[in-house]
Amino acid sequence: MGTSLTDLVANTYSRFPITLVRGQGAYVWDDRGNKYLDFVAGIAVCSLGHCHPEISKVLCEQANRLIHVSNLFWMEPQLKLAELLVKHSFADQVFFCNSGAESVEAAIKLARRYGHNKKGPECYEIICLKGSFHGRTLATVSATGQDIFKKGFEPLVPGFLHIPPNDIDSLRLAFSRRTAGILIEPIQGEGGVRLISDEFLQEARSLCDKFEALLMFDEVQVGMGRTGTLFAYEQTPVVPDVMCLAKALGNGVPIGAMLAKKDAMKYFSPGSHASTFGGNPLACSVAAKVIEIISQPVFLKAVKEKGEYLNKGLFCLKEKFPQKIKEVRGRGLIQAIEFYHDVPDITKMLMEQGVLVILSHGKIVRMVPPLIISKEEIDKLLKVLERTINSI
Ligand SMILES: Cc1ncc(COP(=O)(O)O)c(C=O)c1O
Repeated sequence: MGTSLTDLVANTYSRFPITLVRGQGAYVWDDRGNKYLDFVAGIAVCSLGHCHPEISKVLCEQANRLIHVSNLFWMEPQLKLAELLVKHSFADQVFFCNSGAESVEAAIKLARRYGHNKKGPECYEIICLKGSFHGRTLATVSATGQDIFKKGFEPLVPGFLHIPPNDIDSLRLAFSRRTAGILIEPIQGEGGVRLISDEFLQEARSLCDKFEALLMFDEVQVGMGRTGTLFAYEQTPVVPDVMCLAKALGNGVPIGAMLAKKDAMKYFSPGSHASTFGGNPLACSVAAKVIEIISQPVFLKAVKEKGEYLNKGLFCLKEKFPQKIKEVRGRGLIQAIEFYHDVPDITKMLMEQGVLVILSHGKIVRMVPPLIISKEEIDKLLKVLERTINSI
């Protein structure tokens, strides 16, 4: 008696106390008709905004043509998407899956195969960074550099070493003949929008080159135009061997992809890895349209400009509230404010004023709006943030 429908869903999320029913551009509406400016965007997923007309059109057309067959057959949308991903990146080949965790899982398996084949079965270790987040499967939780996600799930998958980000000495110490790969988010998203230094990335690249290991970038959150280039690695001095994508690739239609150079991907052969839904025509036709739109130079230039505009606005807030705001950081349209103290009520306060943001680690407000956000909408966020920070 009296069971609420919300009790029927596993209690794995602390949710905002609202039910969203509709979205358009950078806005979503709840079931009471309240409108919210969405700086969450499905956690860096809906980069073209909600219900983008071209995306909805492709989705409907493909739904009326062919939704799913199987990777036992070739599918035109999958080939088209692979061609686009390869054309716009360093990669030669793509493995398709359905989520970020699956794309990282595929990268982990590829690195192990690569290590086994190149240097023998004792070469299976993957060096990861503290503070990182790579997903919720057992292997990706093991790769993740935050204990909070691992508690109670032990024993974890062995073979992951965790070193402090940007600590070159620790990287050199951790690297050995057992190292199959290094896994890095070029900007740690969930970890609080923390940038990895060029020097650290260069050292990782040179160790991987010298000792035949794979440099793997997890761009699940920061890829697909989020930082102002199609891929975040383009703004670093290095090019990885493997890259993981998901989130914004499908603008909300679930899809993941693990991209690699042929010298690595050749160690996957029929039967070594697979996914029933991975690369299905529905998701691939949408993702191909997403890339076509996001990869346009004018689109990416606008992301950079709007990112700088948002960053500048946040810095002004830091100057206004030096006792409260410790740091502002980000690149492109992934930005964060770190407070000195926990701000547990801030998301609720902002929500009540019609703005949605993400709170990480108690004191970091993360903003990952749709990339189509306008400067006027950024101004609106800044105004509400200022009023709210003033009152806390
Ligand atoms: C960098 C990174 N990798 C992997 C994942 C896992 O993606 P998914 O939730 O789609 O499995 C996330 C999710 O937030 C992420 O930010």
